[in-house]
Amino acid sequence: MNWEKSAFFDTQADQDWADADYTPEETAKIRRLILETGIKSGTRIIEPGCGTGRLTKILSDAVGDKGRLIAFDISPKMIAKCHSRLEHIGNVEIYLGAIENFKFEKQAFNLVLCHQVFPHFDDKPLAVRLLANALKPEGKFILFHFKNSAWINDLHRKAHPAVIADIIPSEEEMTIIFEAAGMKIDVLRDDNQGYFLKAGFIK
Ligand SMILES: C[S@@+](CC[C@H](N)C(=O)[O-])C[C@H]1O[C@@H](n2cnc3c(N)ncnc32)[C@H](O)[C@@H]1O
Repeated sequence: MNWEKSAFFDTQADQDWADADYTPEETAKIRRLILETGIKSGTRIIEPGCGTGRLTKILSDAVGDKGRLIAFDISPKMIAKCHSRLEHIGNVEIYLGAIENFKFEKQAFNLVLCHQVFPHFDDKPLAVRLLANALKPEGKFILFHFKNSAWINDLHRKAHPAVIADIIPSEEEMTIIFEAAGMKIDVLRDDNQGYFLKAGFIK
C-alpha cells in the first residue's frame, strides 16, 4: 500500500470534488456511462478507488438485489464516508485496501469500472492483470473520467507530490498494458466530454 498516497487522499475526503453531489453535467455523463456499459439489474461490478462512494451508490441502485458490487479504496477517510453513504445496503461490499493487495474470485464479474482512479495505480500493468482475472470471458474493463487526459494529467502535474506522477498513459501505452492482460481496447474517447476506455478479451 502506498501510504503517502493514502494520507494525501485522506486530506481530500471532505473536498467538494470528492464528496459533493454530482452536478447536472456529471449526472448526465454517468447516465451515458450506465447506458453504454449495459449496467442493469444483476450486473456484477468491481469499483476500485471508490472514494466517498458517490458513484458506488448509483451503481448499487442500478444493479439491484440481484447484482453485486465490490468497492475499495486506499484512504480510510474516503472509506468511512463510503460506509456511511451506503449504510444498510446489502449488495455492496466495501473494503479498505489497494488493488495490489486483492485476490478476486476468478471470472466472477461482468465489469471493472475505474472511475477517476487509473492514473493513481502505481503498477498499472499489474492492476489491469489482477482485475482482468476477475472478469468473465464476456466481461468489460472500463476507465472513465469526467475530464479528458490532457486536463487530468495537467491537474496532477500541478498537484501534491503524492500524485504528481499519476498520469493517464497514451493510447499506445494503454494498448500494451491491456494486451498484456489478454484484452484489446474496443473504444477510446478522449475529448471535451471526458475520457472513456472500454476493453474486452481478445478472442
Ligand atoms: C481521484 S479519486 C476518485 C474517487 C472516486 N472514484 C470519485 O470519482 O469520486 C481516486 C481515489 O482512488 C484511490 N486510490 C488511489 N490509488 C489506489 C489503489 N492503488 N487502489 C485503490 N484505490 C486507490 C484514492 O484513495 C482516491 O479515493
